[in-house]
Amino acid sequence: MELDINGQRQAIAPAWRDERLLWVLREHLGLVGSKHGCGVGQCGACTVLVDGVPARSCLLPVSAAAGRRITTVEGLASAGKGLHPVQQAWLDERVPQCGYCQAGQIVAAAALLHEHPVPSDAQIDAALAGHLCRCGTQQRVRAAVHRAAR
Ligand code: FES
Repeated sequence: MELDINGQRQAIAPAWRDERLLWVLREHLGLVGSKHGCGVGQCGACTVLVDGVPARSCLLPVSAAAGRRITTVEGLASAGKGLHPVQQAWLDERVPQCGYCQAGQIVAAAALLHEHPVPSDAQIDAALAGHLCRCGTQQRVRAAVHRAAR
């Protein structure tokens, strides 16, 4: 089995083929940006993009990811072009506090901006509603999404 992760083909060893995508990313491939929060699809910390759409990697069997385009927070920045505008806006607005939820929020924000280049507050809130942040960064998240949209 091979996966398309951040634009690269990755061979998945047989021992990992019955796992959830999150564990393959973190433990097998060393892509530790996506986090394990709740493990049951509720917190959003594990969110990655599957064919450009946010998905909870803690729930997704790796077999279901085969043949699809997986993008993690590590894959948002493009070689030679620096950070993705959302990543740069996150830094400029000093969004992260503890940082645990941020990778999931960033990829979800990138997907939102791809769909809605100039989103409203309501669209931002709706897109990020499923991302729990116990530090209360929601206002800075909203500001960063608006900054990235400029
Ligand atoms: Fe996947 Fe919480 S760890 S949604």
